[in-house]
Order: sequence, then C-alpha cells, then structure tokens
Amino acid sequence: TSPLTIAIDGPAAAGKGTLAKRVAQHYLLPYLDTGLLYRAVGRQIALAGANPDDPEAAGRFARELDLSHLDDPTLRGHEAGELASRVAVHGPVREALVTFQRSFAARPEGAVLDGRDIGTVICPEARVKIFVTASAEVRARRRTDELVAHGRDDVDFDRILAEVRARDERDSGRNVAPLKPADDAHLLDTSQLDIDAAFRAACEVVDRAVVVLDQH
Ligand code: C5P
Repeated sequence: TSPLTIAIDGPAAAGKGTLAKRVAQHYLLPYLDTGLLYRAVGRQIALAGANPDDPEAAGRFARELDLSHLDDPTLRGHEAGELASRVAVHGPVREALVTFQRSFAARPEGAVLDGRDIGTVICPEARVKIFVTASAEVRARRRTDELVAHGRDDVDFDRILAEVRARDERDSGRNVAPLKPADDAHLLDTSQLDIDAAFRAACEVVDRAVVVLDQH
C-alpha cells in the first residue's frame, strides 16, 4: 500500500496544530508544521530589515532559509504569524518551500503535514485530507482563553476576532495557493468539539481511508 500521508489544512487558530500532532503520535508518523516555514522566512526578513512585501526579496530569504531554527518558541507568536501571512502571498516564497515539504511528505512510512495548501498543492495525492474549521468567533475565543491562561492581562476579544478575520481574508484571498478545502477533503468543524472529540473524529476519517484503500 502507499504511505500514509495525512494532509491537515484549515484557517488560523482552528486547532489544526494540536490535532495534527496527536494524529501523528497516534499513527507513529513524523509531523511537519508547515506554518513554521513561513514564520521562519518572515522572521529572517524582519531581522535583516528587508521588506516582507517585496516578492523577490522574500523569495531570496525563503531559498536561503536555515531550517535548523524551526524549534524557536517565539516563532509561534502573533507577530511571527502576521509576518508569515504577508510573505506567504508571494509565489517565489511558496515555490522555494515546496521541495522541502514534498520530500518530508514522501517519507516511506508516511507523514502528517498541517498548513493551508497541503491537500491542494503540496500533497494532492495524500491518502487522507482533513480540512479543520471552526467559526471565527470560536477561534478568537480559544485564542483569547489561551493568552489569558498564559498570564496575559492585556487580552481583548474584539481585537483578536478582528485579527482572526483579517488573517482569514489574507489567506483565502491571495492568488497563489489560497486557503481552501481540496475537493476530496473531509470537513471537520470543531466549533462544537473539544480537542478529544476532534481527535476521535479525525482518527475515524483516517481509519476509514486506510480500510478502504487496503481492500483495493
Ligand atoms: O499555521 P500558521 O498560523 O503557523 O501559519 C502562519 C501563516 O503562514 C498563515 O497565516 C499562512 O498565511 C501561512 N501558511 C501558508 N501555507 C501553509 C502554512 C502556513 O500560507 N502551508
């Protein structure tokens, strides 16, 4: 049978990272958070004082990206996410990151990748595609609670909701690889689900796909 490649896409703060990590652990597969690649490019540009909105300059940084710094925890912060979504609109940036992502996905045992365009562009042949969504309000609420839990006292739900919506618009409205579910993706709306329920639903999708394919 073909390797178990699992593509998990969806908008910001839908919980795909947490879900993808648990799915990867459960099926003993390597996991790649592809958002970190765009975040790292954005960070490098900011550090160098270059312009994140210049496609050619941003493309150069993406081609020269040092992939050994992806575990820097500050990459997961809000600022890096904003920069990431600005550099992610550029064709040269996306092209520079394709090879690394595809070779990760082509590991013989399979892999779990999460992002925006995994099921549509990076791994259109993935055995399982899950598109994780939740309403903008639910995602903003989760992010607000998370920040409060981390001890932040300057958290404003309305501002976070506006940011979530702005990010959705930029990710869905761009010309190259916009955020959208692949035709054959399973939609998983987590608005009413906690992480355990979302994880069980995702495993059902994966198990069904594995059984169906093994019967052929
Ligand atoms: O998933 P995460 O929030 O870390 O992604 C940060 C930004 O990187 C997204 O808002 C999106 O613009 C971009 N991204 C992308 N394609 C991916 C992963 C992330 O365009 N596969």
